[in-house]
Amino acid sequence: MTSPSATLAIDEAVQARREAGHDVLHLGFGEAGVPVAPGLAEALTDAHLRSGYGPVAGSPQARAAAAGWFTRRGLSTEPGQILFAPGSKPLLFALLAAIGGDVVLPRPSWVSYAAQAALLGRRVVSVPVPAEAGGIPDPGLLEQALRQADAGGARPGVLVLTVPDNPTGTIAPAEQVEAVCAVADRHGLAVISDEIYAELSHRGTASSPVRYLAERTVVTTGLSKSLALGGWRIGFARTPAGVWGGDCTRS
Ligand SMILES: Cc1ncc(COP(=O)(O)O)c(C=O)c1O
Repeated sequence: MTSPSATLAIDEAVQARREAGHDVLHLGFGEAGVPVAPGLAEALTDAHLRSGYGPVAGSPQARAAAAGWFTRRGLSTEPGQILFAPGSKPLLFALLAAIGGDVVLPRPSWVSYAAQAALLGRRVVSVPVPAEAGGIPDPGLLEQALRQADAGGARPGVLVLTVPDNPTGTIAPAEQVEAVCAVADRHGLAVISDEIYAELSHRGTASSPVRYLAERTVVTTGLSKSLALGGWRIGFARTPAGVWGGDCTRS
């Protein structure tokens, strides 16, 4: 019997307090609670006519739109590099499964990464975050933890970073992201950069790991947070151009 999801447990506790008449500000879910943007509401309404099964990686139109979205943000992207899924959560799980190896996580980190690693039978190497910001491990401690993991028989294969971060609500500075990517590169790790909160940064853009380890970083994102569409389950990933990214897309 596995333990219940921490976020779902918080949600149930909040609902129980609300039913008991308490006024509760729910910070347990990353949910803005704002109305759906007008243009978007029309597009979603019109989409009900397209009720058949679509291509597994997403429709050509959606993949082209997501590629354009990344390209407009300075990250040149082709539609073939994009994968869609019902939310970024299943994408994260699929990527962990496809990339392989034990999973390196910042500590603290969003609850689902370790749970997904456990479902896949992978070990978790958990590394404290630096004082400046969360979402990435401290680069020095990462180096140390990877050496210890290798010596202890673990096989770290993938590092998950969260930029901007949940649960700390901070954004790792560019130089820290770069330092962490250099360590990941030295140890041959792939990086999954969970950037689901990127559009909610009000202090300029966060520095994506994809800028420092382009050939082995997959970026995940979606419409759940900045567009408040969590229930619609629209997530997408940008895989790297090149052979490694192509393998990710086919797996
Ligand atoms: C860091 C982080 N990544 C991913 C997700 C899941 O997002 P999605 O709705 O795209 O599955 C959440 C949702 O709470 C989150 O906080």
